[in-house]
Amino acid sequence: MTAVTGTDTTIAASLLKSGRLVAFPTETVYGLGANAMDNAAVAGVFAAKQRPDFDPLIVHIAEPDWLDRVVTEVPKLARTLIDAFWPGPLTLVLPKQPAVSDLITSGLPTVGVRQPNHALARQLIAQANVPVAAPSANLFGRISPTTAQHVADQLGERIDYILDGGPCRVGVESTVVTVEDDRVIVLRPGGVTLEDLRRVAGNVEFDDSDGTEKEHASPGRTLQHYAPGTKLVIRDKPEVRPEEAHLKVGLLAQGTDQHPDFTVVEQLTADMTQAASRFFAALRRLDAAGLDLIVSTAFPQKGLGIALNDRLKRAASGTEIF
Ligand code: TXA
Ligand code: MG
Repeated sequence: MTAVTGTDTTIAASLLKSGRLVAFPTETVYGLGANAMDNAAVAGVFAAKQRPDFDPLIVHIAEPDWLDRVVTEVPKLARTLIDAFWPGPLTLVLPKQPAVSDLITSGLPTVGVRQPNHALARQLIAQANVPVAAPSANLFGRISPTTAQHVADQLGERIDYILDGGPCRVGVESTVVTVEDDRVIVLRPGGVTLEDLRRVAGNVEFDDSDGTEKEHASPGRTLQHYAPGTKLVIRDKPEVRPEEAHLKVGLLAQGTDQHPDFTVVEQLTADMTQAASRFFAALRRLDAAGLDLIVSTAFPQKGLGIALNDRLKRAASGTEIF
């Protein structure tokens, strides 16, 4: 099987509905979608990605009024967040309906759900008329895809259709949150920033533990993720060390300075919105450049920089600053 790449949501929706796997664009990254009500299809997602079954999937819905198909309860604070940020890069972890299988939630009593803000995604889900379980459309642990070509490169032989919506606008995954009374607990930083959340909900905490403790279980966070095949280290300065002088070293840089010591330089602008939208593609190009080592500096730890630093840390085989 080789996936067809196209823009036909009618074909993609009927494939989805009949249990096949369809990659589709969202504003964050491309997702690998399966009909969330079809266990065999959902199992196919885990198999195609080689994803371990303890890492739960996010369910995507076309409209907020589909929520009662997948969750049993929407607390007041969750409703406030939905009104403020949907459609958009915010995933809410809420108590699941029995119809949502343990396969999707990895046995947790909760399910992550979001309404993506991308016209093709919404059209696809609405036409299929089923909630769509979708992780990012990359092989497990590897760099997330922000173009249809990225999906084809890693999963093209394992899925049926790739809906091509061009490059993703946001470029990092959704922010995953849970609510407890008047508190919002951020389990994964992402496209909706902590500052955005605090404007709407006063009491926002960032849980930056590894997600293994029972209270705020989020199994995906224990893992190395987003990793290039090439070794990546995070440094406080963009420098090649003397002992690396004979190596091919690439740099993921921010700003406009020149870096002549590096073999390849991927330059992200200081504008964090633009940097986020180009981040994963830049990492992929560095990974494909035949380098011995990739060096990156950290992003300013605010706004989207928090999500980008989270991805960098998980991608790195060594960090010299965190
Ligand atoms: O932007 C996104 O969120 C993208 C697009 C495709 O929507 N999806 C995505 O999915 O990033 P994935 O599978 O790569 O990451 C989902 C993460 C899991 O690793 C897990 O940490 C968290 O979301 N998650 C999902 N369900 C959860 C639950 N019931 N409780 C806690 N965390 C959950
Ligand atoms: Mg992922």
